[in-house]
Amino acid sequence: MGREMRDRRIAGSAFIAGYAEYLRDAGVQEVWGPESFAWAEYDSKGVSAGAQLITPESYPGLSEVHTLDALRDFIGDCKRCKLCNGRTNIVFGVGNPEAKLVFVGEGPGRDEDIKGEPFVGRAGQLLTDIIEKGMKLKRSDVYIANVVKCRPPENRNPEEDEIAACEPFLKKQLDIIKPELICALGKFAAQTLLKTKDPISSLRGNWREYEGIKLIPTFHPAYLLRNPGDKKLVWADVQKLMAEYNKTI
Ligand code: URA
Repeated sequence: MGREMRDRRIAGSAFIAGYAEYLRDAGVQEVWGPESFAWAEYDSKGVSAGAQLITPESYPGLSEVHTLDALRDFIGDCKRCKLCNGRTNIVFGVGNPEAKLVFVGEGPGRDEDIKGEPFVGRAGQLLTDIIEKGMKLKRSDVYIANVVKCRPPENRNPEEDEIAACEPFLKKQLDIIKPELICALGKFAAQTLLKTKDPISSLRGNWREYEGIKLIPTFHPAYLLRNPGDKKLVWADVQKLMAEYNKTI
């Protein structure tokens, strides 16, 4: 590298570090930017030495990943978004890697964070009942994943930057499994996969397509725990799902 280029790089890094420090002092905890910027992790002294280059849309090397195990390894001890700060476990996904049907939820709650497995708490029990009692399948026949793989603090909604950081991993899971059907559980799964802001109340029950795969949105099981009167709507959606599922076997 020529001297002029090196000087320009040093000046650029100093500028970014200085700006990051300014943002930190203003209370900002993380900085996202295009590929040529660093994602800065802060410690008490300033920008940490371990700041990573990151692109939320496409992680270098991800296109070389072709199995779920390799994807889990690729994700590693992920620090690509701020949810890493509060999680106990990354909740990758569970089930049949060759499933014909994938359920996609929002993100881990407390029980899932502790166990490292999706849908194992109260909402999870309801989903398991839908699969086992309603659809007469085994939980292990299907695959279950989430939009974000780390628990949002206090179970708040996942934020846009967190969804953007994790979305390539959900897309990769679906690309590897290649299911014939997807059931999007709740607003975040449906809106993320369908790239829409339409409300779940208007999306639910209507077949859509995600990259050539038939997708049906329905209400999230946690919503059903708060609004049991809407279980009949979900049952109607699940019957549509079962009719399509039976065509795949
Ligand atoms: N809610 C979700 O969306 N996912 C889980 O894994 C658990 C609860």
